[in-house]
Amino acid sequence: MILVGSDHGGLELKEAIKRLLSERGIAFEDCGTDNGNSVDYPDFGIKVARRVSAGEAEKGILFCGTGIGMSIVANKFPKVRAALAADPFMARMAKEHNNANILVLGGRVLDEATAREMVCTWLDAVFEGGRHQGRLDKITALETELMK
Ligand code: RB5
Repeated sequence: MILVGSDHGGLELKEAIKRLLSERGIAFEDCGTDNGNSVDYPDFGIKVARRVSAGEAEKGILFCGTGIGMSIVANKFPKVRAALAADPFMARMAKEHNNANILVLGGRVLDEATAREMVCTWLDAVFEGGRHQGRLDKITALETELMK
């Protein structure tokens, strides 16, 4: 199950990606926002990232105008690896090398076709493990240390 969330700047792209997920038969839950009124991106990023961090959902996709704000807030949460990607190559690397559990997309940066390709690429990619797992282990160790 994938959690999706956006502010007003990412709403249109979120709706497009919800259509893609439906087409692919992938279950998702929309954590808002649900209209074009101006809202604060942390409120919606927190809803998604908190639940991914807690293991209640395996993955999330966040959207704001640039994707920058959502990636900043999501990465505050332990066990969240939120990747702001700008093209399909970055979306693939986000999974293969970083095992990103949240993909972040900019609604004012990406066209719908590119974003659709990016989401498909991220969902279909496989984490390579090996040396990349060792790097993620260092991040996990840092999280543990900082939470003491
Ligand atoms: C909202 O205007 C905009 O700041 C937000 O969507 C996002 O781009 C923040 O990083």
